[in-house]
Amino acid sequence: MSKKPIAIASDHAGFELKAVLKECLESMGYDALDLGTDSTESVDYPDFADALAVAFQQGLADRGVLVCGSGLGISIAANRHRNLRATPCHDANWARLARQHNDANVLALGARLIDVDAAKACLQTFLETPFEGGRHERRVSKLSAQ
Ligand code: RB5
Repeated sequence: MSKKPIAIASDHAGFELKAVLKECLESMGYDALDLGTDSTESVDYPDFADALAVAFQQGLADRGVLVCGSGLGISIAANRHRNLRATPCHDANWARLARQHNDANVLALGARLIDVDAAKACLQTFLETPFEGGRHERRVSKLSAQ
């Protein structure tokens, strides 16, 4: 398992859940690399997905968590980056499949749509579930092909 910190970022709608998940990461023994935002003042979610992509490109992290109101906008923004595979998740089953089949490296959550316990369960499952490889390897490799 990577020893790198887990990058975490949100827009204003995700700020409070990000703070909860950051504590959760630390209580699970992970370092969190917090890329903002730092308040509930309105911001634009693509900027935070972009910041996470830069952190990955710089080798500062290889797994991340993004939070916006729905989990949708920030995952769309993240998936514009070739090095990111972000999947919106609503419960631990989604997070498990995102890891097993899609080798997701970014968990995207919708703070306005998920309760805190479900978000924590997604986070734990996302971090603890390995990629299955095998037939999924070829498919995942096509996601980053030219
Ligand atoms: C912000 O109001 C909201 O649009 C944003 O957090 C996100 O849900 C967009 O997809």
